[in-house]
Amino acid sequence: MDTELEEIKEILKKYGQEQLLNYYNELDEIKKETLLNQIRNINFELVKKLYDSTKEQKVNVEDKITPIDYLDKYKLNDQYKYYENIGKKAIREGKLAAVTMAGGQGTRLGHNGPKGTYDIGLDSHKSLFELLADNLKAEGKKYDIMIPWFIMTSRENNKETVEFFEKHRCFGYKKDKNLFFFVQGELPMMDTEGKILIGEDGLVKLAADGHGGIYESLVKTQMTKKMRELGVEWVFIGGVDNCLVKMVDPVLMGIAIDKKVTVACKSVVKANPHEKVGVFCKRNGKPNVIEYSEITDEMAEATDENGELLYGESHILCNLFSIDAIERMGAEPLPYHVAFKKAKYIDKDGNLVVPDSPNAYKFEAFLFDAFGEVDDMAVLRVKREEEFAPVKNSDEKGVDCPSTARELYKKFYHLD
Ligand code: UD1
Repeated sequence: MDTELEEIKEILKKYGQEQLLNYYNELDEIKKETLLNQIRNINFELVKKLYDSTKEQKVNVEDKITPIDYLDKYKLNDQYKYYENIGKKAIREGKLAAVTMAGGQGTRLGHNGPKGTYDIGLDSHKSLFELLADNLKAEGKKYDIMIPWFIMTSRENNKETVEFFEKHRCFGYKKDKNLFFFVQGELPMMDTEGKILIGEDGLVKLAADGHGGIYESLVKTQMTKKMRELGVEWVFIGGVDNCLVKMVDPVLMGIAIDKKVTVACKSVVKANPHEKVGVFCKRNGKPNVIEYSEITDEMAEATDENGELLYGESHILCNLFSIDAIERMGAEPLPYHVAFKKAKYIDKDGNLVVPDSPNAYKFEAFLFDAFGEVDDMAVLRVKREEEFAPVKNSDEKGVDCPSTARELYKKFYHLD
């Protein structure tokens, strides 16, 4: 143990992160072991690179952004049935699995708990998880199957999420048979000097590494292996915060199979040029999404000869991948985006600091940064009112909030 501790001290010294052991002696035995484990698992070279990246210019001005081609689901005419039949056959054969990204907490919503446990205020008081389960079960029923469901949680909310499902008898699903949970990755948070922070518990301050870590997590946690054992070939990945998310879409699947693309994504027309959504585009000739924080006003407002926005295909986090593509994307690290956040920490004098303004860097990878891995990708424009009712903010904001999502949900399911 002592030699091990010495080795760890050496590593910390090499990377200037000795502060991580400041309170080691005050921890109980279990926490001591946890802390050492955390430190062993930190990729300090990556941490160093990430810190350096906070000093770099954010937007790569060299990138060439161009519009992307898309298909409109409701202008496919005869092709609609053709694609639908291909997709239906594959779904009936059990080739589709659904993944829900539920690593986030409902902080922006003012909800204390995993976002999926949030009740959007329907008469039924069903949680987001239950609304998603209802849809998945109803779709599966059409094919006489249960579509396998994979839930990505985070260390922070995994226990609570699993318990929530168990309390609700997994909404008719069976854990480890057709319902699987896996935990997403994390990265340390650091201060403006590049020092990794120590959290309130005396351990390394870790934060979820963004949904871009999903490919690696799916592979590392052997979920892709499990999918293959189940005969799955296609994986729909969606967010937990869209109560109208359609995880089963034979037309989307048929297009992916017929066009032999390994990624097929859904879009909706941007509500207005400055709506806070990412939009599909090509970056240096490869499929990509340009985030709302990154697009210039000029690009956001540009229109084509028909008056339609040139960059008007909103990314709604409804993306279908072949398992091969997931495994390939999981093998290569994605770039990390840096966010400056408020984070409580223990300072060098042992005091808990509760900041009232951002003080720490958090690093997140975005799932769509992996799209550049593929040469071609299908984008299918669908109807907003049928597929996109996000729950992001609290009602005071008035947009993408429980009341707007509830109205869209009720309208779609004729609940009034
Ligand atoms: C996201 C998209 C944006 C898109 C919009 C549509 C990003 C960076 N941008 O924005 O292009 O137009 O949704 O609604 O995603 N999640 C995890 N783990 C994480 C981070 C997120 O599971 O570490 C999950 C959340 O639980 C949620 C989803 O990913 O289900 C979206 O994350 P969020 O951070 O809310 O993205 P937005 O900023 O809303």
